[in-house]
Amino acid sequence: MASHHKFLRSLFSLFLILLLSGQWIMQLEARHHSRHPKVSLKKLFVFGDSYADTGNIRRGLSKVWKEPYGTTFPGKPAGRFSDGRVLTDYIARYLRVKSPLPYGMLKEQPHHVKYGVNFAFGGTGVFNTLVPGPNMSSQIEQFESLINNNILNKCDLANSVALVSVAGNDYSNFVATNGSINGISSLVGLVVNQTALNIELIHKLGVKKIAVTSLPPLGCVPEITVSSSYRACNDTYNMLVSIHNSYLLDAVGKLNGERKKNLSFMMLNLYESFLSVLNESKKQKSNRMKNTYKPCCTGVSNEYSCGSMDDKKVKKYRVCKYPKASFFWDTVHPTQAGWHAVYNRLRNTSDLRQLHHH
Ligand SMILES: *[C@@H]1O[C@H](CO)[C@@H](O)[C@H](O)[C@H]1NC(C)=O
Ligand SMILES: *[C@@H]1O[C@H](CO)[C@@H](O)[C@H](O)[C@H]1NC(C)=O
Ligand SMILES: *[C@@H]1O[C@H](CO)[C@@H](O)[C@H](O)[C@H]1NC(C)=O
Ligand SMILES: *[C@@H]1O[C@H](CO)[C@@H](O)[C@H](O)[C@H]1NC(C)=O
Ligand SMILES: *[C@@H]1O[C@H](CO)[C@@H](O)[C@H](O)[C@H]1NC(C)=O
Ligand SMILES: *[C@@H]1O[C@H](CO)[C@@H](O)[C@H](O)[C@H]1NC(C)=O
Ligand SMILES: *[C@@H]1O[C@H](CO)[C@@H](O)[C@H](O)[C@H]1NC(C)=O
Repeated sequence: MASHHKFLRSLFSLFLILLLSGQWIMQLEARHHSRHPKVSLKKLFVFGDSYADTGNIRRGLSKVWKEPYGTTFPGKPAGRFSDGRVLTDYIARYLRVKSPLPYGMLKEQPHHVKYGVNFAFGGTGVFNTLVPGPNMSSQIEQFESLINNNILNKCDLANSVALVSVAGNDYSNFVATNGSINGISSLVGLVVNQTALNIELIHKLGVKKIAVTSLPPLGCVPEITVSSSYRACNDTYNMLVSIHNSYLLDAVGKLNGERKKNLSFMMLNLYESFLSVLNESKKQKSNRMKNTYKPCCTGVSNEYSCGSMDDKKVKKYRVCKYPKASFFWDTVHPTQAGWHAVYNRLRNTSDLRQLHHH
C-alpha cells in the first residue's frame, strides 16, 4: 500500500513537472480527451489557405518569409502567416503528431510523410484566386499524385485525418476584382458546393475523418475594421459569412447522411470561436488580450505593409510590444496567442473530439 502511495506521489510530481513545462500541457489534455489512449500514430493532411499554410507559399511570392513574421515561433520567418503557430500546428498537437511537412518541402525530403503532408497555400480559394498558385482542387491533385506514386499507401490513409481550411479568399477575390461587395451572395452556393465536392473527394481518396472550417467572422478582421478605426465589426460581411456557414453546415450534414456518431465530416466552428475570444477580450479590460480588433503588426503608410521595407531598408510597419496581447497579427491573420485561444475553444467541441474516433 505504502509503495503504491509513493508511486502515485512520484507520478503526481512527474505530472506537475510536465505540467510546468508548458508545451506538454496540451498533449496531456489531448490524451485525456481521447477515448482510445493507445491509438497508433495518425497522419494529418492539410488543404486550404493561409490559416493553415506552414511554408508552402513561395519566398518570392509573400512577405511572410520576411521579418517580423515567425518571430515568436520558430523564431525567424518560415512561411507562416503569423508571428508563430497557426491552426495546423494546433490541430497536429491535438492529434499528437508533429505539424506535417509542407508539400513544397517534400522535394528535398520525399519520404518525410510520417506525420502527413500540408498542401495548404496562402491565398488559395476553392476557385482560382491566385495567379500563379494552386486552387484547392490542385492541392487535392498533389495529394492524389503522392498516392499514385506509392509515397502514401492505404494504411497511411486509413488512420488519417484531413484539415480543410476555407477562410474566405473566394470572397475577398470577388471584392478585389469587382470593386465592391455587391452581388457577392450569388457566389455562396458555388463556393459551398465546390467545398463539398472537395471534401467528398478527399474522403473517396481514403481519408476517414475530415474537418472543414467554417468561415471566421470576416467583418471583424482588421482589413475591414480599419475603416471604423478598429472599433467595430462590419455586419454586412458577417451576414454573408453566416449564410455561407449555414449552407456549409447543411452540405456537411448531407455528406454525413444518417450517421449521428462516428462521423466522417466535421465542422470546426471558426466563426463562434473567433467571436467568443474577441468578445472575451472586449469585456475584460485587464485581459491579457487587450487589443481586440487592432493588429499587432500595423503598416505605417497603409494597413498592408506589415513585413515591407522601403528602398532605404526602413521598416514600413510597427510591431506591438506584446504580441500575446493581440488577437490579430496582420490584416487578416491571428497571432499565435489568437490561434491558441481559438484552439482552446475548439478543443471543447464535439466536432474536434470526433477526430479521435476511429
Ligand atoms: C483549379 O485549377 C486548375 C488548374 O489551373 C483548373 O484546371 C481547374 O478548373 C480549377 N478548379 C476550380 C474548381 O476552379
Ligand atoms: C460583379 O458584380 C456584378 C453586379 O453584381 C455581377 O453581375 C458580376 O458578375 C460581378 N463580376 C464578377 C467578376 O464576379
Ligand atoms: C448547390 O447544391 C445544392 C444541393 O446539391 C443545389 O440544390 C444547389 O442548386 C447548388 N447551388 C449552386 C449555386 O450550384
Ligand atoms: C460594411 O461594409 C460594407 C461593404 O464594404 C460597407 O458598404 C459598409 O459601409 C460597411 N459598414 C460599416 C458600418 O462600416
Ligand atoms: C467508423 O466509420 C469508419 C468508416 O468511415 C469505419 O471504418 C469504422 O470502423 C467506424 N468505427 C466505429 C467504431 O464504428
Ligand atoms: C458576443 O457578445 C455579444 C454581446 O455581448 C453576444 O450577443 C454574442 O452572443 C456573443 N457571441 C459569442 C460568440 O460569444
Ligand atoms: C466546455 O463546454 C461545456 C459545455 O459544452 C461547458 O460547460 C464548459 O464550461 C466548457 N469548458 C471550457 C473550458 O470552455
